[in-house]
Amino acid sequence: MNIAVNTGGGDAPGLNAVIRGVVLAAYKKGWGVYGIKYGYRGLIDTKQIDRLTPEEVWDITNIGGTILGTAIRNDPFKYTEGNSPETDISDKIVANFKALGFDALIAIGGDGSLRIADKFTKKGLPIIGIPKTIDNDIRLTDVTFGFDTAVNTATEAIDKLHTTAKSHDRVMVVEVMGRYVGWIGLHSGISGSADVILIPEIPFDIGKVCNKIRQLALLGQDYAIVVVAEGASPVGGELTVLGKENPGGEIRLGGIGKKVAEEITTLTGKETRHIVLGHLQRGGAPTTFDRLLALRFGTAAIRFAEAGKFGMMAALQSTSIVPVPIEEAIGQMKSVPLDSDIMLTARSLGISFGD
Ligand code: F6P
Repeated sequence: MNIAVNTGGGDAPGLNAVIRGVVLAAYKKGWGVYGIKYGYRGLIDTKQIDRLTPEEVWDITNIGGTILGTAIRNDPFKYTEGNSPETDISDKIVANFKALGFDALIAIGGDGSLRIADKFTKKGLPIIGIPKTIDNDIRLTDVTFGFDTAVNTATEAIDKLHTTAKSHDRVMVVEVMGRYVGWIGLHSGISGSADVILIPEIPFDIGKVCNKIRQLALLGQDYAIVVVAEGASPVGGELTVLGKENPGGEIRLGGIGKKVAEEITTLTGKETRHIVLGHLQRGGAPTTFDRLLALRFGTAAIRFAEAGKFGMMAALQSTSIVPVPIEEAIGQMKSVPLDSDIMLTARSLGISFGD
């Protein structure tokens, strides 16, 4: 078989490990693997396709980013370059894919990329999806690769902020990524011993956040750590956004940490500082967990291809990697269940969600 592989959407630690898994598992079967550069761009300008050999992927497991490059804003179903109007160039991609003699496409991406993969599946392309995102918002898989590394980075940052918060009797507000779900905020906040965690799933009341900070002071803790997910919003309020990258493009979230910090200062009189962790959470070497998950996903995709399981996404369910239909994995986000054990843990630890 000739396998094509691409990476789409924002980068996440572990992408290179998936590519390595795909290439080595395919070569073991005597198959060829071709890297499509920058999402689907390599299937438009077909000079941007690289044959991937075992030598090229030998030592990339621990390297962040993606050797294939990625693209957030070139959906072939509404393709645009510069200010040109959106056009559907998906037929050209299908034609090029067939002309190049590929037997399968392994599409590594988040929700947006998996939606595109689903559309191409419906156009007849043999696709296997692999769920990537630091946000961990994809259904039917227990976890996406990249999430664990992002949580580790955020936790380490929160740990460091404790000492400075304590030394100055300050409130430190840390804004983390996660788009419309609170997984990164919740996991890093609990692990980093935050006092308050604000997530999109629970609209917050700033008055209650301030009460928690006052309560801590009464108990002798004159500082506080507040973790705010970028998609968190106050009760009855709106998302805080940086704007849109381009007309019709995705909203860029950001700025809620600054707002929360300002309100805390106003309402409590406490000296407050805020920090936005931003893209640091997407960088660096993947954790052992993410490396292993990524290698498992990549090699499983080759087994799925051999078994003709197309239109499927590799998913971690309990201890196994299983195929699930891409169309069932997309469409609805995996939010934090409010009755989950992890939420109960946070509540039992006395963490405030501002509710
Ligand atoms: O989906 C991953 C993610 O890092 C989100 O957490 C964040 O909102 C978004 O991507 C940032 O996107 P960009 O890299 O386009 O700024």
